Amino acid sequence: MSKDRELRDRAQIVIPGGMYGHQKADWLPPAYPQYFERSEGTRLWDVDGNCYIDYMCGYGINLFGYGERSIDEAARKQAALCDGMTGPAPVIVELAEKLVSMISHADWAMFCKNGTDANSIAMVCARAYANKKKILIATGTYHGSAPWCTPIEEGITPEDRANNVYFEYNNLESLRAAFKQHEGDVAGVFATPFRHEILADQFDATAEYAREARRLCDEHDALLIIDEVRTGFRLARGSSWDAFDVKPDLSSWGKVLANGYPISAVVGSEKARTAASKIFVTGSFWFSAVPMAAALQTLKLIETTDYLEVSLTLGHALRSGIQEQAERYGFDLHQTGPVQMPQILFANDKEMKLGFAWTQAVLRRGVYLHPFHNMFFNAAMTRADIAETLEATEASFKEVLNDPSRLQPFAEKT
Ligand SMILES: Cc1ncc(COP(=O)(O)O)c(C=O)c1O
Repeated sequence: MSKDRELRDRAQIVIPGGMYGHQKADWLPPAYPQYFERSEGTRLWDVDGNCYIDYMCGYGINLFGYGERSIDEAARKQAALCDGMTGPAPVIVELAEKLVSMISHADWAMFCKNGTDANSIAMVCARAYANKKKILIATGTYHGSAPWCTPIEEGITPEDRANNVYFEYNNLESLRAAFKQHEGDVAGVFATPFRHEILADQFDATAEYAREARRLCDEHDALLIIDEVRTGFRLARGSSWDAFDVKPDLSSWGKVLANGYPISAVVGSEKARTAASKIFVTGSFWFSAVPMAAALQTLKLIETTDYLEVSLTLGHALRSGIQEQAERYGFDLHQTGPVQMPQILFANDKEMKLGFAWTQAVLRRGVYLHPFHNMFFNAAMTRADIAETLEATEASFKEVLNDPSRLQPFAEKT
């Protein structure tokens, strides 16, 4: 029996459902290992010793590869001094100063652990700002797993979401209608820099949408919140909507902030400072110094290296290579979103028969692609990794084409 199987069986006994959230055992098709024991740079080793080039980066939590030396060194140095204590270490102030210097709309920062925490703080802050209740959210957008935003309704009451108002992403009319319907009671609008949901092609925000969201928030004295948890520092070295010249009042950051060390942040403008200083938000581990030291070094690398340009170049190489292969083997492939955060889906593949067969074939050849979630590049990726990946994807197109028996439907995902 494989070690992975053995761990899954043991987990069934002591962990509800065998695992939870997006790590649930049936989230991915059977060839995908669930347990890993080592990671380095772009590589992952599962508990049975198989090695993969990893295009998930821990669901987006590293930007410089696993175990980047200078970041680990900064964390180790801080750990030798202190981590969680009765009060914060000086590094919290340094880190806040750094974020304020890098993110154009930021005049202050607060720290927490997960993207969900950061979004929940932003929501509470927006409500405290002008004492209003409604929060506008684009339908189907993932903002985290708290009762107000979890995509699964089990255990959630209508009251948990009573103040959520949904509108359609990029749809100006729908956004205006939501403001109108709740005239005088809109506290804030959540936006993601682009549309990046699972099981769907990704697409960009339009400049009109971004600007109208800003204009409506100003007109109605509501706060614009950008959820940068997934996109943060992957699209730009600062705020993603600077490209549209649209500055939010609040933004939430997580994932890459410390290249894998647990920390997230909310930053805000002067306008939101009083509200942010009135609300009560905290957590036992939110002041830990080690992830803050790691974050500070990560931000230094963001400022001083060409990580973004490298990801763009390699992302383009992967996308065009896969596209050429798909065309040659006659597959209608959708590769969407920024090249450094690619989503790869087959057209007309609602049951994921092609997607699961192809990605499992790629996985067996040592490359971890995700069948329906957007993926992530990191700065440890090399041209050799791309070449190795393209060998695996080509052999897998061939395999799927020559052996249609591999096309098994998998439980439909919602
Ligand atoms: C856009 C976005 N917001 C919020 C979250 C929640 O972050 P976390 O899982 O750290 O709570 C995620 C996580 O994937 C995300 O992608």
